[in-house]
Amino acid sequence: MSKTIKKAVIPVAGLGTRFLPASKAIPKEMLPIVDRPIILHIVEEAVAAGVEDVIFVTGRNKHSLEDFFDHNFEQEDSLSKQKKDDLYHLSKKISEMVNVISIRQKSPRGLGHAVLAAKPAVGDEPFVVLLGDEVMFGKPNVTEQLAQVFHHQEVSTIAVMEVPKSDVSKYGIAKIGKTISKHTWHIDDLVEKPKPSEAPSCWALPGRYLFTSDIFKCIEETKPSKNGEIQLTDAMVRLIKKHGLLAHQFTAERYDAGDKLGYMKINFDAALRHPEIGRQFKEYVLERAKTLK
Ligand code: UTP
Repeated sequence: MSKTIKKAVIPVAGLGTRFLPASKAIPKEMLPIVDRPIILHIVEEAVAAGVEDVIFVTGRNKHSLEDFFDHNFEQEDSLSKQKKDDLYHLSKKISEMVNVISIRQKSPRGLGHAVLAAKPAVGDEPFVVLLGDEVMFGKPNVTEQLAQVFHHQEVSTIAVMEVPKSDVSKYGIAKIGKTISKHTWHIDDLVEKPKPSEAPSCWALPGRYLFTSDIFKCIEETKPSKNGEIQLTDAMVRLIKKHGLLAHQFTAERYDAGDKLGYMKINFDAALRHPEIGRQFKEYVLERAKTLK
């Protein structure tokens, strides 16, 4: 089995209901963080970890995601003629950063169903799954951290983080087992969005997974849950029993950019750090803070 990760699956076929009406005609993954769409941060993380092929699992109205990673010749030509070299090179670099493969998930029947849709493009290799609305900044980044664990253990590994008990019902939650190293453990069980009183721990799965291709068979064997969705969590429970699954506590700043508050937080932080507007934005915020009630 190859130990290097060359393929990333990014499911972006969800309906983005939390972002309506903005997501009515624009994929939420294309919403900007100051001047860079959410999806660019996610693809950059995968590419920095050595990924060569990005597989978007898409739905209707998601063409702009594919267009974004392709050339816009008219714009490039115009930028070149205007001698706007920095913008020209930036635009061209994004168009050339990765191979994009698109696969349609014809109806959004859950994350497990979306990952299974990518099977023909992934084949028999280990691969990563990055949720299209979870932005994480780390050095090494979270995908690289998972790849390092996989390199040594050769077992599927997912990123976990500790959340307050009151938040467990928003996530898949892992029951942690035997220790492998300081930040890596075997997972004994997983529960999708448990009530705080029923959660086996506070270790949540925020949306970075490294799987061997064994996950596909596990998803195929998974029955839809009550709401008709095929849950990735249920398939991972099968994976635990058949092949094992590790949890790795990652180190990174993490934002849920698919949620209104998380989206505003990442925009706020990115604006403060932005080389062009950061200083002025900070002055504005400090000034506003004096008058805000
Ligand atoms: P979310 O549940 O956070 O996204 O799924 P959503 O469904 O788009 O948003 P809301 O909850 O309605 O506001 C996490 C990621 O998985 C993808 C979504 O596009 C999102 O990036 N997803 C989810 C799929 O690709 N297919 C699905 O069937 C479900």
